[in-house]
Amino acid sequence: MPNPLHGKNIVLGVTGSIAAYKAADLASKLVQAGARVDVVMSENAAHFITPMTFHALTHRPVTTDLFDPHSELAIDHVALGMRADIIVIAPATANTLAKLAAGVADDALTTTVLGTVAPLLVAPAMDAHMYDHPAVQDNLARLRNRGVTIVGPEGGRLASGLMGMGRLTDPEVLVEHIKLVLGRHGDLLGKKVVVSAGGTQEPLDPVRILTNHSSGKQGYAVAEAARDRGAAVTLVTTPVSLRPPVGVRVVRVKSARDMLEAMLDVTNQADIVVMAAAVADYRPVAESDHKIKKSGETISLELAKNPDIIATVNGPFVKIGFAAETEDLLVNAETKLRSKGLHLVAANDVTATDAGFGVDTNRVLLLDRDGKVEELPLLTKYEVGHRILDRALAMVGKQRA
Ligand code: PMT
Repeated sequence: MPNPLHGKNIVLGVTGSIAAYKAADLASKLVQAGARVDVVMSENAAHFITPMTFHALTHRPVTTDLFDPHSELAIDHVALGMRADIIVIAPATANTLAKLAAGVADDALTTTVLGTVAPLLVAPAMDAHMYDHPAVQDNLARLRNRGVTIVGPEGGRLASGLMGMGRLTDPEVLVEHIKLVLGRHGDLLGKKVVVSAGGTQEPLDPVRILTNHSSGKQGYAVAEAARDRGAAVTLVTTPVSLRPPVGVRVVRVKSARDMLEAMLDVTNQADIVVMAAAVADYRPVAESDHKIKKSGETISLELAKNPDIIATVNGPFVKIGFAAETEDLLVNAETKLRSKGLHLVAANDVTATDAGFGVDTNRVLLLDRDGKVEELPLLTKYEVGHRILDRALAMVGKQRA
């Protein structure tokens, strides 16, 4: 399953805001992800950035005028809107929002919007006082009620020097929102997917924890892949340095016991549960309430067994675990599949330099209860996520407890 932007027709509307320069970055990111991007600029946008910038980035004609004889729209004024998978307006000015809310079609962009059935995503950008104006707020509310996705604006320093709401949402985050909208009718539509990620943190004293090398990347990638296929995703995560995928519900935990509690809570309606977190099997018997002082040459730590989370959470869902192994991958993974009551286990060799902890790629063996072993090549963690979800989807509703 490629990323949801691949092969998609995206109309990118750019209107007259200083933030128009950020639309160039957005266009570039969409093109790099495999989308066909047709840029339609308002007349005012061309005061801030040239059509040539977008033409160079998208390798496609840029429309600025409905009646330009070289534009596809001169022949068929709704051509772009008809083939669009989504229309994104970034930045969207107060003026454009007003026109969209009123159904005005007086230029190439607003005509394209009226002539489409594709979803519309708008990312407002303007000065803070304009954004706060009741007229703008009313227009946004009307658009939202009509099903338009509004992303941002963000707070911060504005071009006027004011601090306030009005900054265009970061293009990287806009791309995530676009994926969320495009994936909304994917094959996991209506399915609830719970994913755990990161290494648990077991407190030793107020300044120290026992943890492991998990970066959370594999779990976050599974959550992102499920989101891109239309699932309602809950991500139970330990503190990691990743931004959670847009559109995913996030539950933050630290220790294995926190994670168990959260998983018991969020899995009761789940269809698919993927446990990618690296859970500490043991925790310090007691957490010292003061910093443990340096004393002799050695000290001993007494550890108590943590609950086995994936073995404990049960319900009518497809239960998938990972097996992090340093030897005897298949044998150990098979033991975990059975002892933890899993439907599928993804075994990864965590001694490899291109797989396991921290890296963006992984190489896994998928083992199921029927003894089928699928050896996946080196893939990105996002692709691994899709392969796991493919298998999970085929099992939903058919699994044995
Ligand atoms: O986060 P990254 O840097 O991207 O690295 C990814 C990963 C290597 C952490 C991931 O791919 C992975 O292998 N996750 C599982 C790590 C692990 O704890 O494996 P395990 O073999 O010890 O446990 C087997 C399964 O039982 C796992 O699904 C684990 O989440 C679960 N488990 C383990 C112990 C415990 N007390 N409760 C559990 O639920």
